[in-house]
Amino acid sequence: MPRAGKAGRSLGLPRVFSFCLFLHSSSAQIRYSIPEELTRGAFVGNIAKDLGTDVAKLAAANLQVLSDSDSQYFSVNVNTGVIMVSERIDREQLCGQNPRCFLHLKLAIENPVEFYRIEVEILDINDNPPQFPSDEVSLRIYELASLGARFPIQPAQDPDVGTNTLQTYHLSANENFNLNVKARTDGGKFPELVLERALDRELRAFHQLVLTAEDGGSPPQSSKTRITIQVLDANDNHPVFDRPSYGARLVENSPLGTLVVKLNATDVDEGPNGDIRYSLSSHNSAALRQIFAIDEQTGEIRVQGNLDFEEATVYEIEVEAKDMGSPTMEEHCSVVVEITDVNDNAPEVILTSFSSSLSEDAPPGTVVAVIHVRDRDSGEQGKVQCHVSPDLPFQLRKDYEHQYSLLTSTHLDREHIAYYNVTVSASDLGSPPLSRHTILPIALADVNDNAPQFEQASYEVLVAENNPVGSVLVTVSAADPDSDNAKLSYSILDNGMQDVPISTYFRIDQDNGTIYTVRALDYEQDKVFQVPVEVKDAGSPALSSTTVVHVFVLDENDNAPTIVYPSVPKGSAFHQTIPALAEPGYLVTKIVAVDADSGHNAWLSYQLQETTEALPFQVEHRSGEIRVAQALKESEDPHRLVVEVRDNGIPSLSASVVIVISLEENSVQDFSKSLDLPKSSPKDTNLTLYLIISLVSISLVSCVMFAVVAARCLKAGTPDGFIKYLDVGGAGLTSQAQNYTSCFSPMSDQSDFLFVKPFSHSSTAETVAAYEQCFFCSVLEVHCRNFSFLNSQVLLITDCALARDHFPAWLF
Ligand SMILES: *[C@@H]1O[C@H](CO)[C@@H](O)[C@H](O)[C@H]1NC(C)=O
Ligand SMILES: *[C@@H]1O[C@H](CO)[C@@H](O)[C@H](O)[C@H]1NC(C)=O
Ligand SMILES: *[C@@H]1O[C@H](CO)[C@@H](O)[C@H](O)[C@H]1NC(C)=O
Repeated sequence: MPRAGKAGRSLGLPRVFSFCLFLHSSSAQIRYSIPEELTRGAFVGNIAKDLGTDVAKLAAANLQVLSDSDSQYFSVNVNTGVIMVSERIDREQLCGQNPRCFLHLKLAIENPVEFYRIEVEILDINDNPPQFPSDEVSLRIYELASLGARFPIQPAQDPDVGTNTLQTYHLSANENFNLNVKARTDGGKFPELVLERALDRELRAFHQLVLTAEDGGSPPQSSKTRITIQVLDANDNHPVFDRPSYGARLVENSPLGTLVVKLNATDVDEGPNGDIRYSLSSHNSAALRQIFAIDEQTGEIRVQGNLDFEEATVYEIEVEAKDMGSPTMEEHCSVVVEITDVNDNAPEVILTSFSSSLSEDAPPGTVVAVIHVRDRDSGEQGKVQCHVSPDLPFQLRKDYEHQYSLLTSTHLDREHIAYYNVTVSASDLGSPPLSRHTILPIALADVNDNAPQFEQASYEVLVAENNPVGSVLVTVSAADPDSDNAKLSYSILDNGMQDVPISTYFRIDQDNGTIYTVRALDYEQDKVFQVPVEVKDAGSPALSSTTVVHVFVLDENDNAPTIVYPSVPKGSAFHQTIPALAEPGYLVTKIVAVDADSGHNAWLSYQLQETTEALPFQVEHRSGEIRVAQALKESEDPHRLVVEVRDNGIPSLSASVVIVISLEENSVQDFSKSLDLPKSSPKDTNLTLYLIISLVSISLVSCVMFAVVAARCLKAGTPDGFIKYLDVGGAGLTSQAQNYTSCFSPMSDQSDFLFVKPFSHSSTAETVAAYEQCFFCSVLEVHCRNFSFLNSQVLLITDCALARDHFPAWLF
């Protein structure tokens, strides 16, 4: 087989020249083999030589090239029979990937006509490198792609055939991928990446590989493509807090919005997978969620509610950080917030036992209330001191820590202070301290510890005798400071001191203390009453007190004078015989009359009733003596005198007696001797006589009265100085004096007198003057040096001495 070594050498490529000759009867076929891409004029073959014909003969045979499609590639020297390449032959263009590539040439000769078919096989040379469609390939692979996953790469193309075409691929060294080449039945080789080791975007997000394609030429040709692998993120990482737990310390009552802590979680994933949202986890109590708020973007926890140390001293907040991947991944963490105490709580005072009503007789030390104090702060700020207002009769006793008893500290008196507001102050030891005051209203309950008291120690009433039955004497009034027990009832005590039960004289309205008379009073029978009045309260037992109402009965002129002497039956006359020689001045007789009334009403005067004829007698106006007025005539008939005794009351009452005076001759001397004592000095005698008689009568009347009263005094007298009353009305000769009532105590100093004022004077001085005046002009002529008012009614006159000693000594 001939070889075109020269041409092959000039191309620098291995060449295979081949030649085959098939000869037939009328035609022959010759085959040559030449490599492609020979230069123009390159030798293909020599027909003459190959046909065994010499050149001359060939020239004579008129060699012709029959025109054909492929004839353009070759030129034939008809003279020499040499075939040459006339045009570039590109096997890849002519035959593509067909490994058998032939060009045909037809030759014809004359004499004899013969046809030659020349077949030129075009042999491949490695004139093309493998070629990738692109220098750069980018792949995006999910980082969680499973092992063994295949990622095909577009194969490289090499138009050469046979060994000159693409033979192998190489992958640059890497940790994750292997190269697998799929050989297809058509001879194509498809490379693919096989994931051998798991990707981790967070470790390496991009991988750069180089894939090399190489053919089998000699020398081989190759080309590369760069494979860029982007690892796509998977949400395979959870957020991570920068600390295992967070701590914070806050004072209680921190203002709203105070930053507690800023959380910091990171997520190495990217995009939404690494986008973190913070939140309080659902385990947290609702209360805690009201106190703390978290910013889901920044992770800042802030105060949004009231932090109260007393409610919680520490909060543990569960927080979570979630990424936005799908599925989302989350992480938990806890934040411990310690709250420090501030003195924000005032102590509280709790009454565990309290009765707002306390009996006033509760002894000192009675427990009124039990008080609990507490302070929700801690430490010194939570220690409580307790005290009560110092000026009240209450004190605190500390029973034990945080418990006090409120006790009474002294005896109480509802009538003095009925109601206390006890302020209990509790303060803590914080700085500044907080305190609280609680007022315990304590009302004292009444106990019947006060007897009712009359407004006056005694009452004096002046009442005219013969008063209408049922008339009001006086109203006594008592007061009882107790409240619940102060319903009073009045009664008259019948203590038997009076001869007749006193209730037959007086009655009292038991509700209002008005005293009424039950019957008409008679001065002549009872001049003074002591009415003991008792008042009782409604307590149980009831308390009572008594007073005495001194009722002084005032005299009225209700008794006519009574003629004591001469005593004759009514309607008859008293016969008196006088000596016929009786001279003027001769005392015929003396009319003695008494009047049961006193004072003016008992002040008697005597007079003769008017007669037509003039009588020789006269009646001494005051003494009632009937004396001869003018010389009598012997022959005179008995004289008939009507003597009227008249008291000085208004209107005055009178009595009269008829005296018949007869003259008797023999008895002149006797009468003149026995009865005419003051004869020597008639005027003087008259005066003296008047005085004596007057004093005697006064003494008589006074004695009667004093005797009565003294008898009563002695009867009722007790050694403790019960004051007795003495009416000296009858002793007075002046109008002012007659109604004075004096009293004295037989047990006390004899010169002490009490006078009861019977009239109203506006001023004390006037009254004193009046007493003085009346007293000194009274017949008693008691001289007193001390005057003082016990009250508006009673004047105490002491240091007295009688000017005269006419009064019976036993009275004093
Ligand atoms: C958050 O934590 C990361 C990782 O611990 C740290 O690098 C970063 O500085 C922190 N950020 C803040 C604001 O503290
Ligand atoms: C006690 O307190 C009440 C109510 O504050 C008040 O009306 C009353 O006058 C007080 N009493 C005394 C004795 O302070
Ligand atoms: C006392 O009570 C009686 C009867 O109820 C009445 O008539 C009288 O006026 C009262 N007296 C006074 C001072 O109130």
